[in-house]
Amino acid sequence: MTIKNKNRRQFLQHAALGAATAAFPGLVLANKGQVKSRATPGFNPDVEIAMTAREGYVPVLKSGPNTRVQKYYGKLIKGPKDTLQHLKGNYLGPIINYEKGQKVRIYFNNGLKEPSIIHWHGLHVPQKSDGHPMYTIQSGEKFVYEFEVMNRAGTSFYHSHTHELTAEQVYQGLAGIITVTDDEEKKIELPTGEYDIPFVLQDRTFNNRNQLQYLKGMHGRMSGFLGDTILVNGKPNVEFEVKSRAYRFRGLNGSNSRIYKLGWDDGTPLTAIGTDAGLLEKPETRPYIMLAPGERIDLWLDFSGRAVGTKLVMYSLPYTGAMPPMYEKMQKGKGGSSKGMGGGMMGGMGGMGMMGGGGLAQGAKFPIASFKVTEKVSDSPRLPKRLVKFDRLTERDVDNAHDPLPIAISMKPMRPMLNGKSYSMDRVLDFERVPLGSTKKIKIFHDHGMKKGEHGDDDEKMDMGGKKSGGMNMGGGMGGGMMFSMAHPIHLHGQQYQIISRKPGGMRLDEYETVKDGFIDSGWKDTVLVMPGEEIEIIKPFQDFKGFFLYHCHNLEHEDLGMMRQFYVY
Ligand code: C2O
Ligand code: CU
Ligand code: CU
Repeated sequence: MTIKNKNRRQFLQHAALGAATAAFPGLVLANKGQVKSRATPGFNPDVEIAMTAREGYVPVLKSGPNTRVQKYYGKLIKGPKDTLQHLKGNYLGPIINYEKGQKVRIYFNNGLKEPSIIHWHGLHVPQKSDGHPMYTIQSGEKFVYEFEVMNRAGTSFYHSHTHELTAEQVYQGLAGIITVTDDEEKKIELPTGEYDIPFVLQDRTFNNRNQLQYLKGMHGRMSGFLGDTILVNGKPNVEFEVKSRAYRFRGLNGSNSRIYKLGWDDGTPLTAIGTDAGLLEKPETRPYIMLAPGERIDLWLDFSGRAVGTKLVMYSLPYTGAMPPMYEKMQKGKGGSSKGMGGGMMGGMGGMGMMGGGGLAQGAKFPIASFKVTEKVSDSPRLPKRLVKFDRLTERDVDNAHDPLPIAISMKPMRPMLNGKSYSMDRVLDFERVPLGSTKKIKIFHDHGMKKGEHGDDDEKMDMGGKKSGGMNMGGGMGGGMMFSMAHPIHLHGQQYQIISRKPGGMRLDEYETVKDGFIDSGWKDTVLVMPGEEIEIIKPFQDFKGFFLYHCHNLEHEDLGMMRQFYVY
């Protein structure tokens, strides 16, 4: 990033903050657009952490020079000893282990040479502690987060959420995993300690000096970054040595845009016990599980009965249909997984400038990690039939069953959008204002049938009211945008939601067949993969906190291109 660019970004941020204060006087802002952020007297934290983001050099690859990364360095000031688990020689930030009910204060130090802010993806926290990009701090500044852990037991994700720099900063390493435990979880016998293992999936591309290569220019931003090297917990070619018993693996897709189709090489099905930030009511077993960026899946991997020496390989199995038709066509007959398939070449073809991003195609088959049974043990916890009590949300809980809030996905060249608009820090549409305490039905769908001028990009006067959305082309329309139609993981900040329906459409049946059994829609979610043409209905409560809560595509390149909006809870 050039200095000029950086100053412009700072200017834009401050300008946006000014406008936000004017529009929403409730925002507490200090002079000169700087956010007031101090520890609150009277808030007595159980856990206090100092978290610094700065550059570091870590041995990511097995040989050769260390890799320059951006990394979260954590220090526990107060709280249970195991609150932070440091991963040695790793770019991932420390694992943060919380207990429901804990009061937490985090001092964030920006030791980078550029702006930054942390978001706690999955945690239900006040606006001010959510890492909204309006709170982005400059190099050398500090930000204080304070919240109570209100979440039920589950797995969450923290990462940079810096305005227009999210994708690159996460790519450089600014990410980590969060666990929350509670009494209900402790009642069931799930594997703990050394049998409870993070499983963070990311893809990267390295140059011959072991340095991270990100997208150059605009190439590949529309499809999203796809690397040629798969990392698990920050390392390539990972082999887990396991005992012949059951484990809990906390899957987190921390990739910028890669979608994994998790499955065993020998066809053994996979059992899930939890999704985004919550345990399921009961385990679900599937031939494979789709995991999109931002999603988590808690897996129950049982090696009992396996002989010592057995080796199992977890793959990302092949699938099709997630990418624009043009991209898919080009992958065909090329094997789709050769390392030499550079973004430059693909970007050049067809002059679309959107196919790039590295070697390993979206949907290619590749190994993720192997598991080697190294020790026989005689007892193993049994998979519980029931996990936790689950409050199933239905249409009876919402006040807008017949008038769902729309999240319309559309793509124009270099302009992926939601509800026909790009992100703006200080704007919300009418229907994006949601009263505190309400529970809403939300419909997420593809809207590629936009006619010129129908709902213009930045014309804020042309508000698309909730009512009007009914007139939009619901999914799979063959308008001009259809050629850009691809899968988008849609993430909503704040409280978890539930998926009440998933209707396919717009994808060829044989393609849909390659993904359709891999969606676990029965649990609490904060991110949902929306395949081309699909229409998904969710129910989401907006409780406890007023303010701005983002919703966006978790393809991080899309997010930074403006595929993000926000609700204003009032
Ligand atoms: Cu994981 Cu708004 O992001
Ligand atoms: Cu989030
Ligand atoms: Cu997207």
